[in-house]
Parts: sequence; C-alpha cells; structure tokens
Amino acid sequence: MREHGEVSDRADSGGPWWRDAVVYQVYPRSFQDSDGDGEGDLRGIAARLEHVRQLGADAIWLSPVYPSPMADGGYDVADYEQVDPRFGTLADADALIAAAHERGLRLLMDVVPCHTSIEHPWFAEHPERYVWSPRDDGPPNNWIASFGGPAWSRDPRTGRWYLHSFYPEQPDLDWRRQDVRDAVAGALRFWLARGVDGFRLDAVDHLLKDSQLRDDPPASAPPVLPEHADAERLEQIHSRNAPDIGGALAALREAAGDTLLAGEVYLPWRQLAPYLAHVDCAFAFELLHAPWEAAAIRAAIAAALQDDSSGEQVAWVLSNHDFPRLPDRVGARNARAAAMLSLTLPGAVFVYQGDELGMADGPGGDPPHDRAGRDRHRHPMRWDDDLPHGDFTVSEAQPWLPAIAVAGGGVAQQRTDPDSILHLYRDLIALRRTLGAGLTFLGEDEGVADGVLAYRRGDEHLVALNLGDEPRPAPSAGRVLRRTHAARTPAGLAAPVQLLPGEGFLAMI
Ligand code: NOJ
Repeated sequence: MREHGEVSDRADSGGPWWRDAVVYQVYPRSFQDSDGDGEGDLRGIAARLEHVRQLGADAIWLSPVYPSPMADGGYDVADYEQVDPRFGTLADADALIAAAHERGLRLLMDVVPCHTSIEHPWFAEHPERYVWSPRDDGPPNNWIASFGGPAWSRDPRTGRWYLHSFYPEQPDLDWRRQDVRDAVAGALRFWLARGVDGFRLDAVDHLLKDSQLRDDPPASAPPVLPEHADAERLEQIHSRNAPDIGGALAALREAAGDTLLAGEVYLPWRQLAPYLAHVDCAFAFELLHAPWEAAAIRAAIAAALQDDSSGEQVAWVLSNHDFPRLPDRVGARNARAAAMLSLTLPGAVFVYQGDELGMADGPGGDPPHDRAGRDRHRHPMRWDDDLPHGDFTVSEAQPWLPAIAVAGGGVAQQRTDPDSILHLYRDLIALRRTLGAGLTFLGEDEGVADGVLAYRRGDEHLVALNLGDEPRPAPSAGRVLRRTHAARTPAGLAAPVQLLPGEGFLAMI
C-alpha cells in the first residue's frame, strides 16, 4: 500500500498514473454533510477522505459542485468557475484538493461541456454561443432529448427555439464556435491552476451534431445501449456523434495538457475511435448494461478490449449515479462477483460511492428531485448504523434523500467484519496491483462450465465467477488469493471444486 502523502506516478510500470487505476466516484450531495443542511458538501468530503484512502483508490471523481439550479443534479451548470454555496466555497475546493493530495489521492472534476444551465449568464448575455433553430416558428427537425420529448424548446424571452440534448433547462452550446471552445477550455485551465488532476467529460457524444440539422431517420433496431423509449425510436445519426468531433475534443485536450481526460461517450465501443484519439479513456457502457450471464458479460468485455487486452483506454464502470445500483441490477447475490469482476479487469475502473458497502437503491424523493427517476440511486452514504441518519448528517437535519440502511451495515460496522463486502473491495483493490498484464478468456476446452466466466490475468492469475443460478464445477486453479465470500474458505487454500451461484475466486494458476 502507498505511504501517506505519496502520489505515485506509476513511473516504475512505465505508464501514466491512471493505467489500471481505481477511481472512486463521489456524488457530493450524498457523501457527507458537514453543516447540517441535509446535503453533502466539500468539507464533508474532506472529512471522509480517509475512507477512500483506506479503500486503496487512486483518485476521486467529483460529480459537479458548480453553482446550479439543480434541474439535473448539478449537470446544469450556471458557472464553470465557482462552487455552489450548498457545497461550500472555492477555498473549500482548494482545501479538498490539498487534503486529497496529502493522502496520495488525485482529484478529477466533472466537466459538462455539452450544455449549460439555462440560468448560466451566457444564455442571456451570449445567446450566439448556443444552438438555435434557424426558423422562428418551431424546431427545425425531429430530434429527441435524452430524457424524452422534443430536443427543442421555445425561449420565452426571445421567442426563438433552442436545442437541448437533455432537459429543457440545459441548452446545448454550439461547439463549432471558437468562443465556446475557448470559454470551456478556460474553465479546465481554471481548475488545473487550482491543482486538479484531470476531468471526467460529461456526455461528449452529444457535443457535436449535424451542422445541417438534418432529421434522424427512424430506428430499424433497438440501440446497443438502452435509451429513453422516445429516443430509441430514432437512429440518432444526426442529433449526436458528428464525425467532425475531433476539433472540439482537441480544444479540450489542449487545455487539459497531459492530465487525465475520461470521456463519458454513451456509444458502443466500436464507435469510440474518434473520441479515443483525444481522451485518455472512455467508459465501457456495454459491460454496465450487459445481462448478468457469462456469454453476455464476456462479449461486453471483449468488445472494449478488442485486440488490445491491456485495456489501456478502457474505463470500466458497473455503477454510477445514473443507473440502478448493483444489487438491483445484477441481484444482491451477485454484488460480490460484480466487484471481483470489475476490480480484476485490465484498465481503469470506476467505483461509485456506496458500492463498496453493497448499497442498493432506495425509495427516491417525494416529490422527486430528478424527473428522470434517478433519485433512487443517489441516497446518502451509510457511515455508521449506530448514529442518526447513518452519520451522514447531524440528527436534527433532514437529509435531502432518506439515509437508508444497507443490508451489510454501514462503513463502521463493515470495517469490523472480515467477511464484509467492504473488506472484499479493499482486498481486491490491493491485489489488483499485483495482477499480470492483459486478459485471456478461458473456454470449455479449459474445463470452464456453462454459466462460469473465467479469465487469466497475465501468466499467473486466474479469475473464475459463477454468474449462473446453479452450483457449477470450478475451473482448476492453484492457491486462492481471494474468494468473493471470504468466510466460506480462507484465502491461501486450494481452489474450491465447486462455485455456488454468485461465488468466485481470484487464484494463482
Ligand atoms: C451524464 C450524467 O452522468 C447525467 O447525470 C446527466 O443527466 C447527463 N450526462 C446530462 O448532463
């Protein structure tokens, strides 16, 4: 494990720091409230950094903390170079960056370049920076917003129609304009000057669209990655993913220098080449959406690794603030196998806060905070079951979403339980550093039973996971380094002959 205060640059392994890194996603509103207003904040995050360090993560990705009317949980930014008072101040951000670095943790900001909040001063003061319909009597085409409904709305002030790839409160910037590129690049420089180590780039597949604003044709098949039902009816070949995306991304790259750019590009991996030419890594969403079956999971991993099994440009993600949490998506029984899977893949891996506790979805807000129904995946972190609100906030406060209990207990409880999923995450993150390069799947010929996913890492390590509903014979292996369920067989023993559903191991070959 790294020493306190040491920010490793992986110079020994010859790669940049993010190669095979573990990035821990903090959803600031739900991590830790320090001032008793029921919402998490930057000082709260600083106070909980030790948890992230002990987990063994390399970096933190901070979902947006900028001033925002919160129509989209902060992804509607009203000022790229400030902190929303609900989260603290710029001084708090500086203190958090410094505190993270002291603990050897890097910090990534979330940049939302595709759109601003409709309340960003630019919308009134620089309307030319946005995408407008050339006609004043309505939308110029049939484009659909990602959350459903038309992607065009009428600006009541001017009567003109503007484009919004997401909520109407999020007008799209026109990334063909140099002043837009310069302005957002300036925001990246602003945060780099404050010491951040890189950026997660939001929704970059929506950054550039067809300059002629042509209609999207009707879809002939369901999309590879699921969309809102309205959006799935069209093949989105013009409303996003324009072929000349390179110029826009190059502007972001130039501003970022050699710091990390992790792209959220919501497209199948085979379409990512123009993005990967400029960003360091991109999320592999096919794996997140793959059904929990050995063949489908294998195909999704193979799609992202393609010919390069080092996973050099892959950011694995099984969970984030937009999708049902792991126990709800893959089943509670499989949450540990999901952890073992993502943490033993080659490439960077992103872990969403609470996953390390096995946290499930909650009831959501009433009335909802998010109109797209994502409150359920955003409940407060559970620090200690013995304290009010799980110690997310003070007892008198009303958390913005209920601080729900977690089946396996809060952080304090799981810390003392060697069979907890928290220990599994920690152990796997530590073991991950020792795994060999590349990934090779094992098949039937190597004795892998139906329903079992098995792969080698380098020449020495083997991972086997039973993703099916029945007990299955385990592939033969040497000494076990970690089992998903530690209490059943301690590490260091010979590999088991059978894997129960949801069970798996990491072993020497
Ligand atoms: C992706 C973000 O993760 C999501 O929360 C947001 O709603 C959209 N991009 C739009 O910014």
